[in-house]
Amino acid sequence: MSPSPPPTVRLLRGDARDVAALAAGSVHLVVTSPPYPMIPQWDGLFAALGATEYAQMHSVLGEAWRECHRTLVAGGILAVNVGDALRSDAGGFRLWPNHAAVLESAARAGFTPLPYVLWKKPTNRPNAFLGSGFLPPNAYVTLDCEFLLLFRKGGLRRFAPHDPRRLASRLARAERDAWFSQVWSDVRGAPQGPRERRTGAFPSAIAERLVRMFSVVGDTVLDPFAGTGTTLWAAVASGRNAVGVEWDPVVYDELTRRARARGLWPPAPSAPGSGAGSPGG
Ligand SMILES: C[S@@+](CC[C@H](N)C(=O)[O-])C[C@H]1O[C@@H](n2cnc3c(N)ncnc32)[C@H](O)[C@@H]1O
Repeated sequence: MSPSPPPTVRLLRGDARDVAALAAGSVHLVVTSPPYPMIPQWDGLFAALGATEYAQMHSVLGEAWRECHRTLVAGGILAVNVGDALRSDAGGFRLWPNHAAVLESAARAGFTPLPYVLWKKPTNRPNAFLGSGFLPPNAYVTLDCEFLLLFRKGGLRRFAPHDPRRLASRLARAERDAWFSQVWSDVRGAPQGPRERRTGAFPSAIAERLVRMFSVVGDTVLDPFAGTGTTLWAAVASGRNAVGVEWDPVVYDELTRRARARGLWPPAPSAPGSGAGSPGG
């Protein structure tokens, strides 16, 4: 087998809802974590995109899932990390089930929903209950799980028998056993940076597992909500090419700085599948 070319990273400053620079069927896997609707951190961003209500926020995300569907190959997987939210509205305190809304909007975008992973975050704040819980019935269950929702575009991805890239991507038995179980309780949340500029980053272990479970060496992995680039670095570390789209200019600048620090930016001019294509950046 000839050695695979070194993986490349491509960064695009733009909108996940319209990534015209990416050709249809040019991506094998999407691993992403969008801004979560009904979380204060993302209210301003959704408002700037014209969405102030729950349904509007999910309609913004729905447009991004449609674009993921366009850019994925047949059989490609979409993996979405999302958490539910708690907020009061006119009817009082309630749950906003973002995971259910994403399941529905991604299905509307054409994806087939698959069994998902519950990421139960180990907490060192065991007393962080919403209400004391000692006197029934008015306390609330703590939201300490996030969802890793999984979808496929169409039927199974097909490979030739003994495809060398697929064989080179084989998981160890312990990885297979742990990663394909429905609850992941051994992955801590990522550091979030200063309060005034939280990143919403997810831990690299989440990205690495999803990349290795649902793509093969030499594939291209897209994160349309790239943030600090966790998915991109995990993809490259596992021998996959990566494409990141980021809308916020400040976050995009930081993303390019991080790629440069890793020697991944600017891309080598001759590297196939790389380039600084950018609608606005
Ligand atoms: C939850 S964060 C992603 C964090 C990322 N997984 C990481 O580990 O750093 C969501 C990111 O999506 C970006 N974003 C929000 N709306 C966007 C859009 N329409 N197109 C592209 N990026 C967007 C935000 O600026 C933010 O950086």
